[in-house]
Amino acid sequence: MPSPETPRRIVVTNALPYANGPIHIGHLVGYIQADIWVRFQRMRGHDVTYVCADDAHGTPIMLAAEKADKAPEAFIAEIQKEHEKDFADFDVTFDHYHSTHSDENRELSERIYRALKQAGHVEVREIEQAYDAEREMFLPDRYIKGTCPRCGTEDQYGDNCEACGATYEPHELKDPFSVVSGSAPEWRPSEHYFFTLSALQNEIEAWLDSAELQRPVKAKLREWLKPKEHGEGGLRDWDISRDAPYFGFEIPGAPGKYFYVWLDAPIGYFASLKAYCEQVGLDFEALIAQDSEAELWHFIGKDIVNFHGLFWPAMLKDAGFKQPTALNVNGYLTVNGAKMSKSRGTFIRAATWAEYLPTETLRYYYAAKLSSSVEDLDLNLEDFVARINSDLVGKYVNIASRCAGFITKRFDGQLSENFDNSELVAQFAGKAEDIAARFDARNFSQAIREIMALADQANQYIAEKQPWVVAKQDDSDTELQAICTTGLELFRQLTMLLKPVLPQLTRKAEAFLGLELQSWQDIQTPLLGQTINAFKPLMQRVESDKVDAMLEASRADLAAVADSKPAQTTESGKVDDSMIEFDDFAKVDLRIARIAKAEHVEGADKLLRLELDVGELGSKQVFAGIKSAYAPEDLQGRLTVMVANLAPRKMRFGLSEGMVLAAGPGGDELFILSPDEGATPGMKVK
Ligand code: MSP
Ligand code: ZN
Repeated sequence: MPSPETPRRIVVTNALPYANGPIHIGHLVGYIQADIWVRFQRMRGHDVTYVCADDAHGTPIMLAAEKADKAPEAFIAEIQKEHEKDFADFDVTFDHYHSTHSDENRELSERIYRALKQAGHVEVREIEQAYDAEREMFLPDRYIKGTCPRCGTEDQYGDNCEACGATYEPHELKDPFSVVSGSAPEWRPSEHYFFTLSALQNEIEAWLDSAELQRPVKAKLREWLKPKEHGEGGLRDWDISRDAPYFGFEIPGAPGKYFYVWLDAPIGYFASLKAYCEQVGLDFEALIAQDSEAELWHFIGKDIVNFHGLFWPAMLKDAGFKQPTALNVNGYLTVNGAKMSKSRGTFIRAATWAEYLPTETLRYYYAAKLSSSVEDLDLNLEDFVARINSDLVGKYVNIASRCAGFITKRFDGQLSENFDNSELVAQFAGKAEDIAARFDARNFSQAIREIMALADQANQYIAEKQPWVVAKQDDSDTELQAICTTGLELFRQLTMLLKPVLPQLTRKAEAFLGLELQSWQDIQTPLLGQTINAFKPLMQRVESDKVDAMLEASRADLAAVADSKPAQTTESGKVDDSMIEFDDFAKVDLRIARIAKAEHVEGADKLLRLELDVGELGSKQVFAGIKSAYAPEDLQGRLTVMVANLAPRKMRFGLSEGMVLAAGPGGDELFILSPDEGATPGMKVK
């Protein structure tokens, strides 16, 4: 038996979500990843404190509250409640969930700011800033739009053009306007406070050398630190102040100036930790002291590495606090190979997922996909359905359901005192340390692969032993009981290995087995001679129509969000895109089609059945919802445009192999497209 490791004291944090919108499945990648790691470390006997908070400050939140006609405090309190519910639904179980808009955070922010000042690392400089005179506020770069100075595309942000990729300063925009009021911004001087990071180059480098970082993250940070050609340091001083009106903390001794949201955001990790420590009687100061034995792990997404790998360690250094032990950076989520998209319905909120599908299925899928890499990861929904059904239902749960019935019916729930195959049991137990190493290194996909290979072995064992055949033989009781006991012991071991990923499903499995698995060592304690409870199905198959319904619902509820949110941007410059790339468009195979035949469909009050002649692509059948606007005879012979590579859909009336394009709100206001003369069936529309 491997000796237990020396217990580690670990503080784990997740990036603090902005308090101006719902948690979506992209956010959940990092939260689920950290939660699995925390559960795993606890099973290894380590002492983990896991905290998070809402990131409640900044211009976007101030404006969102205003738009919702609420005081910012009330606005962020509501959002925080939603966030906490979402995390609970997905079993992301923080020890404490706080807010950056809290007394603890104000105190700590002031304390750290004073330390930066004391160290001589704060400078006041006058800068020119865009000012919205109508709304009486200074405008962050993302709140100014105008015409690109390079290519002339209208409606571009103040820092870069999405059409030609040019980057520029906001005052270079032509015809600039404020996103908030629409008025033309003025340029006004304002005093800003700067954290002189350039003076901390060496300190940041020293941290970088010692911190545990993924290789590409370290490389990226080194690149940012590298002196540029002109000889000056690669790091620019960081503007940490914003002018009123701003939702945040006023800077001590600087009336009308506020800490920039990204100054107090990471301090929010400590604020949450402090609140937790006070609640449970832990020594907060000892935990965050420079010489603290505790490890400090930040789980973040790839877009916020600069804040966590440059500014934050520098702040902590000046303040004399513990610097991060490690950053774990996750890539971005794509769905079906593309960025999450509102129109495709793949911009899925956590709450919408929870409404349609078991939340643990997403935990499992992410675990099966996650590695320590910073690469983006894809949620392919077809693969998702197949994977859950095959791995969890077909492999894991199946082991129990194949063995449990015999034990219950034939042996009154009593397990055998002996295994039929103790080598196999020992072999499984022998894998536990290897799998632990993979969890520890955040190589969850490898851990899952190994666990599922064991599940395959267990199923194979049962298939070979055929307990259902043995059950029919005379004098086979001892053998049958030993086989099923072996199968259930393998199931118990798998349950333990899966526990960090699937807290609910494994809890049900434990209840069935009549035990509780707490420590990774428990894999070594076999299930012999015990009684088990009657087996109830642990999990249902995932049906793909549930996935379709979820996408449909996401399309619907995001139409509502788009209206209720100001510019879909955040202050760190992220854009929630509803834009597609040319490549996305090119995936759609649009073709000219001749409507060879059109007819009513019995039992369908909205549909017409069309037979389309698509030239080289042959003939296609499409059910089109245009009955309210067209009589079949008006359509026959006409040319129109169809989507020829839409995955065929089985409908009640038959297979629909594409879609014809039409405009209009519906009812009798529907207008199908027709090409100009000369187009022939099968031509590509580009
Ligand atoms: N408030 C900041 C973090 C402050 S930490 C001191 C923030 N908030 S966020 O709500 O925009 O994002 C929260 C986390 O979710 C971040 O780690 C971010 O990288 C991550 N993600 C947001 N969208 C994501 C995907 N589509 N995919 C994966 N992670 C994503 O940033
Ligand atoms: Zn441009």
